[in-house]
Amino acid sequence: MKRSYRGIVTVLLLLVPIANSRKAVHVAIFLDDDGDDSELSTIAVASALRRTTFVQVSDFTLKPHIYWTNKDDVLKVGDTVCSLLENQSVAAMFGAGSPEINEIIQSTSTALHIPYFQTFWNTKLSSYNDEFPVFNLHPSPDVLSKALATLVRINAWKTYTVIYEDDDGLYMLQEALKQRSPTDPPVAFKKLGEPGKGRRSVLKEIKSTGVLDFILDCKVDHIFDILREAKEHKLLSEYHSYTLTNLDAHTLDWSTFRDLESNITTFRLVNTTRRMVTSTMAEWTSVLGYNDLIDVKDPVLNNELERLRHKTPPVTVNANKVRVKTMLLYDALNLFLTVLAEQDAKQELNLAPVSCDESTPSLHGRRIVEAVRQKDFKKGVLLDPLTGPISEFSKSGQRLNCQLEVMEFAPKSVTSSFRTVALWKSSSPDQVEFEVTSTSREEEEKEVIQGKNFRVVSRLGAPYLMQKANPNNEFRTGNDRYEGYAMDLMGMICKPESLNCSYTFYLVPDNNYGTYDPEKKQWNGLIRELMDLKADLAICDLTITYERKQEVDFTVPFMTLGISILYAKAVKEPPALLSFMLPLSLDVWLYTATAYLVVSMIIFLVARINPNDWENPHPCDPNPKELENIWNIKNCLWLTLGSIMAQGCDILPKGISTRMVTSMWWFFSLIMTACYTANMAAFLTMERMGPTIESAEDLAAQNKIQYGCVKGGSTAAFFRDTNFSTYHRMWVAMESAEPSVFMASNKDGVKKVTDSKRKYAFLMESSSIEYETEGNCDLMQVGNLLDSKGYGIAMPMNARYRKPLNRAVLRLQEMGELLRLKDKWWKELNRGGQCTRDKDAVEDTAAELGLDHVGGVFVVLAGGVCVALVIAICEFFWNVRKVAVVEHLSVKEAFYKELKFAMNIWARQKKVMSSPSSREISLN
Ligand SMILES: *[C@@H]1O[C@H](CO)[C@@H](O)[C@H](O)[C@H]1NC(C)=O
Ligand SMILES: *[C@@H]1O[C@H](CO)[C@@H](O)[C@H](O)[C@H]1NC(C)=O
Ligand SMILES: *[C@@H]1O[C@H](CO)[C@@H](O)[C@H](O)[C@H]1NC(C)=O
Ligand SMILES: *[C@@H]1O[C@H](CO)[C@@H](O)[C@H](O)[C@H]1NC(C)=O
Ligand SMILES: *[C@@H]1O[C@H](CO)[C@@H](O)[C@H](O)[C@H]1NC(C)=O
Repeated sequence: MKRSYRGIVTVLLLLVPIANSRKAVHVAIFLDDDGDDSELSTIAVASALRRTTFVQVSDFTLKPHIYWTNKDDVLKVGDTVCSLLENQSVAAMFGAGSPEINEIIQSTSTALHIPYFQTFWNTKLSSYNDEFPVFNLHPSPDVLSKALATLVRINAWKTYTVIYEDDDGLYMLQEALKQRSPTDPPVAFKKLGEPGKGRRSVLKEIKSTGVLDFILDCKVDHIFDILREAKEHKLLSEYHSYTLTNLDAHTLDWSTFRDLESNITTFRLVNTTRRMVTSTMAEWTSVLGYNDLIDVKDPVLNNELERLRHKTPPVTVNANKVRVKTMLLYDALNLFLTVLAEQDAKQELNLAPVSCDESTPSLHGRRIVEAVRQKDFKKGVLLDPLTGPISEFSKSGQRLNCQLEVMEFAPKSVTSSFRTVALWKSSSPDQVEFEVTSTSREEEEKEVIQGKNFRVVSRLGAPYLMQKANPNNEFRTGNDRYEGYAMDLMGMICKPESLNCSYTFYLVPDNNYGTYDPEKKQWNGLIRELMDLKADLAICDLTITYERKQEVDFTVPFMTLGISILYAKAVKEPPALLSFMLPLSLDVWLYTATAYLVVSMIIFLVARINPNDWENPHPCDPNPKELENIWNIKNCLWLTLGSIMAQGCDILPKGISTRMVTSMWWFFSLIMTACYTANMAAFLTMERMGPTIESAEDLAAQNKIQYGCVKGGSTAAFFRDTNFSTYHRMWVAMESAEPSVFMASNKDGVKKVTDSKRKYAFLMESSSIEYETEGNCDLMQVGNLLDSKGYGIAMPMNARYRKPLNRAVLRLQEMGELLRLKDKWWKELNRGGQCTRDKDAVEDTAAELGLDHVGGVFVVLAGGVCVALVIAICEFFWNVRKVAVVEHLSVKEAFYKELKFAMNIWARQKKVMSSPSSREISLN
């Protein structure tokens, strides 16, 4: 339309006289008696009437018959319809305010084939076919449910509940939502009772399911009541989302909900800023204002308009407040008139009355219906419908094409109104066109967070959150009571240059992280707090798991970790006194000693029978009377001892067999000494390690060291559910261990590792292991991570601050702030950093031997020398006795004589006693 309406109107004023000669076209319009929009409906009809008067190209004038009906007088309406059809040649019927009235009009229309244009949501049309003259201009339930389904998908709702008021409205919606793919989120349907009757219990039930997203299907007048009741049940928090199916929701006065925190989405059929809409609204206003411009030759309508003009407060026309059915009525009238005019121009329509009793279908009706169905009309001046193009109807007469604006309530804004965020078109039902850019969304999110005070739930556990030391017993409240990594992390996130927010920490009552109890069918711990919306965030060493992710949202992990093994370091025990014995086992020592004795005996015996070992004692005498054998027991023992000590001996056997035996012994000694030396070296350089493990595989492959984890924790779950054979074997071993290797907490596990002297290894998360090993130098981490997971900040589903929070965490990560924070709490404030120095010191001294290692040798030397002294003393006394016998002295005299001689260290010679050794040899 190029020219303004006002212009057209003025030009066409000149044609008014012609209009008087036009044919009258009667239409019946049924409006809802108690409907709130009946005033505007009147104006809409008047406006349409005026347009036909001036703009219509053909020679018709519209004669509207308006009936305000009440759903209680169905019979009366039936009579009225029949008598009207008989009295006048009615060309079409419009409206019907209520489903009850609709029934009778629809059946009359069908029987007599009078076109019937409906303007309300009618779910009962689906059984109709293209034989029926019924058109419903309201977007069909099918179309709406498609739009809803798309919205649900785009918003990525995990699960949602459809709250509905009456089965009728829900019927089609339910059908459409049921035809879902298995990947679609689960949906529940809850029927609200009448106000006051059972509605509270339904809402209570809904609250207990913890669902956050709703589709609310109810009459427009009930929306506020239901939302108020939802608020009482704490179902209207910032985490809840409502999508209203009622296309009139935006016409309500939402200013009472200015402090609403929930996210309310609705659809709007009419783009109220469109030129056509604004100009039509101007026309409606002028219908009220300019009496002289109106050529409404209808006394009823004129009277009604007159009444409205003098009404206080004055009736105003505001496109944002006009109900959809009023807009649709206007569009339906225009559609009908366009088609009527075009058909009449082609071939004159014979409008004639019809009778309910005779049931003869009207002929003009059939032509109009066919024209509408086959889209046999031009979209001319009259047909730029307020509600967008009307071109397609389903077989049952439902309007198929429409455009819906997705509108979102902008809470906390000054205007408290809806704004368009996206556009849905029936031509591409699976997507929406976004009207709001993501950057402007981000700005809004930022604003929401600015100044927000986050309720942060956490639990005590070093170093994430700890009670502050309080030596002076000061009175502390709020965040001042605690300190730790979590507190600092939140502090960084909430810095003015980041999110500029504030926060309050509190402790979770049951001190749990959050596990699902299948019997009670509920979660506990931190997850529970979030699900009950008591907290906005949960920060501690909370692992992101699939199960938890179903119930709450997580940020990106601020710390990544995996299961690893905590084990005690090797204890540096002081070496045993007799550690030089260690290279050979006790058995070997005993066997060697036995072999020494036996070989000595054998040499002795072999030497006696071997002639070569009987020697001439006096080499100068070629014919000795006696031969001599030096291999007495003493010498045999000396020979073998000398060789095993690698010393050799000054006398050696001469016989072949004795040499044979001796050389065998030498061979034995050589090997034994070499073995001893080699092993000794190894023993001295090696710490006393005990059994060693280096990985989970090592643990699984042995049974000396027991291992366990926290009972019922995520580590236990990892081993329980794993399919990897090694870990599965470890789980079986852990389960069957007696006594139980499962610990109540990490603390107990660490204690057990410390106390058990390398007989117990504890499986826990690497970050905790790092913390423990920094603080306790006797502990160490063994092996790599068995799995990989992360700690994240948890928040309720739907939280608006999820994205900004994510960005904040990522930024901290990229700037290295998270690493610094970890160093602070893991090392600086945890006596950390000293263990590495200890290790260096150990390595420095490892190469050299201390007195500890060789002390035993000194002891043996001292012991041996002592024994030698004792023997010397015995020998001395033995000699004293002999001297006494030979020299006929008393024992005492002999003792003094010998002692005196022994003490006289300068005496170099001693007198020979009567018994030389040669006699002993010869006796042998
Ligand atoms: C139809 O005409 C009859 C008689 O002329 C009249 O009594 C009746 O009120 C009319 N009905 C309607 C609906 O106008
Ligand atoms: C409202 O909820 C929808 C989906 O749940 C989401 O896409 C949208 O961003 C939310 N709006 C606000 C302002 O949070
Ligand atoms: C509504 O109409 C105005 C004016 O024609 C247009 O600028 C705007 O994009 C339309 N809005 C939607 C959502 O189509
Ligand atoms: C942070 O928020 C406060 C109000 O809560 C505001 O006064 C201040 O300017 C904000 N700072 C920044 C850097 O945005
Ligand atoms: C583990 O094994 C079971 C049975 O063999 C199988 O059904 C399951 O899918 C496996 N799980 C994984 C994570 O591979």
